[in-house]
Amino acid sequence: MLELLNVNAFYGQSHVLHDVSLRLEDGAGVAIVGLNGMGKSTLLKSIMGAGPRVTGTVRFDGQDIGRLAPHQRARLGLSLVPEDRRIYPHLTVSENLALAGHAKIAGRAPYSVDEVLDFFPLLKKLAGRKGFQLSGGEQQLAAVARSVLAKPRLLLLDEPTEGLAPLIVDNMGEEIRMLRKREGMALLIAEQNVDFARDCTEHVLVLNVGRITFSGCWAEFDADPGIRERQMSL
Ligand SMILES: Nc1ncnc2c1ncn2[C@@H]1O[C@H](COP(=O)(O)OP(=O)(O)OP(=O)(O)O)[C@@H](O)[C@H]1O
Ligand SMILES: [Mg+2]
Repeated sequence: MLELLNVNAFYGQSHVLHDVSLRLEDGAGVAIVGLNGMGKSTLLKSIMGAGPRVTGTVRFDGQDIGRLAPHQRARLGLSLVPEDRRIYPHLTVSENLALAGHAKIAGRAPYSVDEVLDFFPLLKKLAGRKGFQLSGGEQQLAAVARSVLAKPRLLLLDEPTEGLAPLIVDNMGEEIRMLRKREGMALLIAEQNVDFARDCTEHVLVLNVGRITFSGCWAEFDADPGIRERQMSL
C-alpha cells in the first residue's frame, strides 16, 4: 500500500530524515517511536506532502505520489492528524465533522456525522459544543474523529495521546482498533506512549536522529530491552 524508498527530508538547509525506507501492507498498523526531535512528525508530513522538502520515492498503491499536493493525496485515501490538531473553534463538534464530508476519497462513501459520533461515545455527548469550549484532549478526539469521517485507507496520527487523560487514551485506543478492523484501515502512528502504540499496531519502527534504527514486530521490540535503553531512554 505505502512504500518509501530512500526518503530524505529537509527544512531549508537542515537535513532531518536520512534515507528512510519502509513498507506498509494494506491494512497494516505501524508505530513510529523515538525521542523528541528525532523526525517522527517530519516523516508523517513527508508522506502527506505537508511541510518539508522531500527527495526519494513515496509510493501509494504503486503510484509515485511524491509530486502530488496534500489534497490530492487525501483524495487517494491518506489522512493526517497533525500534532497541532486544528479544529474550527467557532463551529460545534458536529459542524466540524460535517465539513470533513466534503473531502471525498475516490471510490469510497464517507461515514455520516452520526455514524462517527456513534464510534466515539465521549464525543457524542459533546456534539453541540463549540471547539473552543472543549478541553485539549476533547479537541484531539474531535480531530481524530474528523479525520476518519472520510473513511481513509491510511490514517497518519501524530502523537494523538499527548496530554490526554488515561480514560480518553483507553477510549481512543479502542476506537482506533475498531475502525481498523471495520474498514481494514491502515495506520501509521507517531507515539511516545509505547503501551498505547503497542495496543493499536503490529509493527514498530524506531527513529533516531532521522534514521530508522529498528524495525520489527512488537515481540522483537519487547524481547530486547536494550532497544528502549539505547534508543529511547525510556
Ligand atoms: N518547520 C521546521 N523548520 C525547521 N526545522 C524543523 C521544523 N520542524 C521540525 N524541525 C526540526 O526537525 C527535527 C525533527 O523534528 P520533528 O518535529 O520531526 O521531531 P519529532 O520526532 O516529531 O519530535 P517530537 O516528539 O518532539 O514531536 C528537529 O530537529 C526539529 O527541530
Ligand atoms: Mg512530533
